[in-house]
Amino acid sequence: MPKNKHVGDSVSKGGVDITRRTFLHKSLLTGGAVATGSAVGFFQTLTSMEVANAAMGESFSFAWVSDTHLYPRELNQRFIDKATRAFSEVEAMGSKFDFMIFGGDLAQLGDPVEIELGAELLQEVTLEKHFIPGEHDWYLDLGESWNSHFGESPWTFDHKGVRIIGLDTVGSAPDYWSARGMTDVERMGHMSALDGSQAGPWSGLGKKNREWLSATLSDWPAGDPVIIFSHTPLYEVYAPWNFWIRDWRQVHEILAPYQNVTNVHGHVHQPLYNEIGGMRSIGQLATSWPWPYAPEGTPELTKPMLRVDPGDHFDGVGWTSLAMNEGRMDYEYMMWREQVFANTRADSGTGDNQNQKLSPRIADRGWTGDWFNIERK
Ligand SMILES: [Fe+2]
Ligand SMILES: [Fe+2]
Repeated sequence: MPKNKHVGDSVSKGGVDITRRTFLHKSLLTGGAVATGSAVGFFQTLTSMEVANAAMGESFSFAWVSDTHLYPRELNQRFIDKATRAFSEVEAMGSKFDFMIFGGDLAQLGDPVEIELGAELLQEVTLEKHFIPGEHDWYLDLGESWNSHFGESPWTFDHKGVRIIGLDTVGSAPDYWSARGMTDVERMGHMSALDGSQAGPWSGLGKKNREWLSATLSDWPAGDPVIIFSHTPLYEVYAPWNFWIRDWRQVHEILAPYQNVTNVHGHVHQPLYNEIGGMRSIGQLATSWPWPYAPEGTPELTKPMLRVDPGDHFDGVGWTSLAMNEGRMDYEYMMWREQVFANTRADSGTGDNQNQKLSPRIADRGWTGDWFNIERK
């Protein structure tokens, strides 16, 4: 299996070996993302993937918004305010973007009222829009409201030399509700709490979607860029919170031949970056709230995010502007605060090397054999 690449790995550019941390330090000294109030992903510009895929395709930009977690209007205005701010900002910059992707968790409890409210707010954005569902959109009515408003997933289209794919990573959880006689509300309740005690490792593509992904990529040249949108990450971020797809092994096998894959994912509500083989994964902000970093299992963070100010509900959230530039993915977190990244590890909330255990194979602890081949009826 391919190994996760971690901070400090030596990368070679222009024949000079240099650690990623050193490169990052130089970038911060000479760049200035921190001072701008937004956060540019510097470090991906150093990867061997980019060197291999330089000067490819036509450049374009797009916007990502996700994880608005809307409640009905009378219950919660804050999340509406933040979603509205994101959509307004995207629309204001609309001439820059070719399209917007909404990456799931539009609703909090899958209530059709919440999804209707989200559809109404999304009308602010007049760009071409594409949608993938989150688990919060799905498990009250098993996707009925979501699909009726935003269409079914997965889907694909080609854009300026890039194959673009939108996956459904949430809709094929094993049936944890029938045998227990759960109501629809109870089923949604377990999912909305990310409660793995009932739902197990619920996130995944499932056999049908994996076959679709394989067929969709079968005619695509291995060196050409692919962007895959998914709500949950396509690698094992943190199993106890279901921050991963349970069938990542098979998905990585499908993606292994492709040398320039970018997975843009939501669900984690925080800046994350990782590379496995030819796939880079970029975690996205929520507009609703930031999750803390997982205490173990993830690659050591290159640029940890500061702890957020609990008194400021616009802190630590936002949306993302992304650009495919000649086969290289650049991105800018449009986070609504002045100071984004920690200057010292003590400020980061991620612990130090002693407290943060690195366990690349954490998913194996919850590994359940043939679970990933069980299909929900
Ligand atoms: Fe979410
Ligand atoms: Fe989610």
